[in-house]
Amino acid sequence: MADLSNLEQRARAELAACTDEAALRIWNTRYFGKQGEVILALKEVGKVPPEERRAYGQEANRIKESLIAAYDGALVKEKELALERSLSAEGLDVTLPGRTTPRGRLHVSTRIMREIYGIFADLGFQIYRSREVEDDLTNFELLNMPPHHPARDMWDTFHTTTPGVLLRTHTSPGQIHVMRELCPEPIRVILPGMCYRYEAITTRSEIQFQQVEGLAIGTSVTMADLKGTITAFAQRLFGKERQVRFRSSYFPFTEPSIEVDIDWPKDDPNADRLTKGTGWLEIMGAGMVHPIVLKNGGYDPQKHSGFAFGMGPQRITMLKYAIDDIRLFWGNDVRFLEQF
Ligand code: DAH
Repeated sequence: MADLSNLEQRARAELAACTDEAALRIWNTRYFGKQGEVILALKEVGKVPPEERRAYGQEANRIKESLIAAYDGALVKEKELALERSLSAEGLDVTLPGRTTPRGRLHVSTRIMREIYGIFADLGFQIYRSREVEDDLTNFELLNMPPHHPARDMWDTFHTTTPGVLLRTHTSPGQIHVMRELCPEPIRVILPGMCYRYEAITTRSEIQFQQVEGLAIGTSVTMADLKGTITAFAQRLFGKERQVRFRSSYFPFTEPSIEVDIDWPKDDPNADRLTKGTGWLEIMGAGMVHPIVLKNGGYDPQKHSGFAFGMGPQRITMLKYAIDDIRLFWGNDVRFLEQF
């Protein structure tokens, strides 16, 4: 016959010592499983002498009910505690601000290029893409710069191990490609793209930079068309009130050749530094396409004429945003890029 009061004390003490759900389940099996001590104690009621049977049975049942109640209570409490433990360990703070997704943006050069494309699109110019790896013939000779022509000094470049194959120094060789493709049709295109030069890298010069070349060819294209187009462009990009100035210059591929300046606002504190005190700032080279270049493109200079221009959008961006170091453009420093 089981010692009921000892059984109850032991069971209660062990239940109190359980620290997790698994321990509670083990406890339950020990006392209430098929061979559980409480269950066995209840079965023993038949062996109890008749005069004690009733009291034994009542006491055993009371212990069973009270232990089940204690177990159920402990199980609920343990589940609450487990939830609390996991909440405090995993620490979900719903008041924290969410993580923002970093927003990318277009590179400042991409933006200025698109602005330039937009202006020339309005003026009826299409975009013509041409190669960055060129040959000496197209980069120089067909543009009226035979080998040993002194003008080549202005365009030192990177040569490949294949003789005569080089990185283009300007977008002007694109003129030859587009002429040869479209001749004898009239042409009105811009030729944007990357150019390369073998230069000492300073705040004003880089070994790579973009250019936007322009070319218009027809049967009655004149210098007046060139001046009108460039003035319209400059005033769209820099402001309607800008004055444009044309100076005579020299390029082997144009005749006559000019350089184009815009006046810089006098109230800009950088005006003096930017314009070296003159009030004028150079934005591009241009001219009427040289008859030899027209011929090299397949056009007859007796019938056709054309104008061309070339500018450096990085330089224009530097003017527009007062950027004082051209190396910032390809340095990939987010602190610079984020500002645009
Ligand atoms: N190719 C010249 C340069 O890189 C720029 C230029 C000047 C382009 C006059 C032209 C032009 O088309 O007519 O310095």
